Amino acid sequence: MPTLSVDRVSLTYRSKRGPVAALADVSLAVASGEIVVALGASGCGKSTLLGLMAGFLKPSGGAVTVDGVPVSGPGTDRAVVFQDDALMPWLSAEDNVAFGLQMRGVAQAERRAAARDMLAQVGLAGCASHAIHEMSGGMRQRVGLARALAVKPDFLLMDEPLGALDELTRERMQMLVLNLWQTSGKGIFLITHSIEEALFLSTRLVLLSPRPGRIVQRYDTGFARRFIAGEPVRTIKADPDFLAMRDDLSSAILANAAEDAIDVG
Ligand SMILES: Nc1ncnc2c1ncn2[C@@H]1O[C@H](COP(=O)(O)OP(=O)(O)OP(=O)(O)O)[C@@H](O)[C@H]1O
Ligand SMILES: [Mg+2]
Repeated sequence: MPTLSVDRVSLTYRSKRGPVAALADVSLAVASGEIVVALGASGCGKSTLLGLMAGFLKPSGGAVTVDGVPVSGPGTDRAVVFQDDALMPWLSAEDNVAFGLQMRGVAQAERRAAARDMLAQVGLAGCASHAIHEMSGGMRQRVGLARALAVKPDFLLMDEPLGALDELTRERMQMLVLNLWQTSGKGIFLITHSIEEALFLSTRLVLLSPRPGRIVQRYDTGFARRFIAGEPVRTIKADPDFLAMRDDLSSAILANAAEDAIDVG
């Protein structure tokens, strides 16, 4: 049961216009079987936090570790899914999913079988040979998920993975993410701008405030587990507890954004 820990991390970018303090004193842990969601206004450091966890960035202070071992760069234990899935459009769905396995030296027959299995798990069993450019946004995002899962990571790190989808597709994908979470037991860190999505897809939720980004609120949330236990998505999202928490979060984000608005003048 590995745990990905962020311990008192700060990050300051060096830019031409001087230092940008993107994160200050952020602590967070993602254990297997948990979905931790980060929510916060644009520019509050969410992607920076994910970049640190993925090993794309190094902290200016503090530490990022997996079971106590410092993260020194990207690794196959931590797979990343972005909004723009960065698939190779000229390759088939299967070849895209198999690509990461090829990089790891997995034999062709084995990668083909693994890729088909993963595509089936994301509901694309019949589409293995389709080229990416023939697929809809929702289908592409499923391929991106399958590719991330194919390398059998311990953690999935997702930066607004469903942000570009229409509402209906988005809700279907939310359910897919929860089902994959349940069957795989992985630890998931997910960034979203949608309060509703954050509530539905989390076991824990952190709210960040900007400049520098820090965690201002932490919540334990039970809605993802209720979905897994069989409660319908529509019932959950209409539940008075869900709606009350959504309003709380909305007020908290507004309160933080108000300070930001003064800056802009
Ligand atoms: N490479 C960089 N160099 C300098 N500043 C940067 C760099 N990347 C991000 N920043 C700044 O750091 C802060 C946090 O950026 P980050 O992308 O982590 O925010 P975010 O919460 O993901 O925003 P969004 O919701 O818009 O994606 C912002 O003020 C941003 O302008
Ligand atoms: Mg971002």
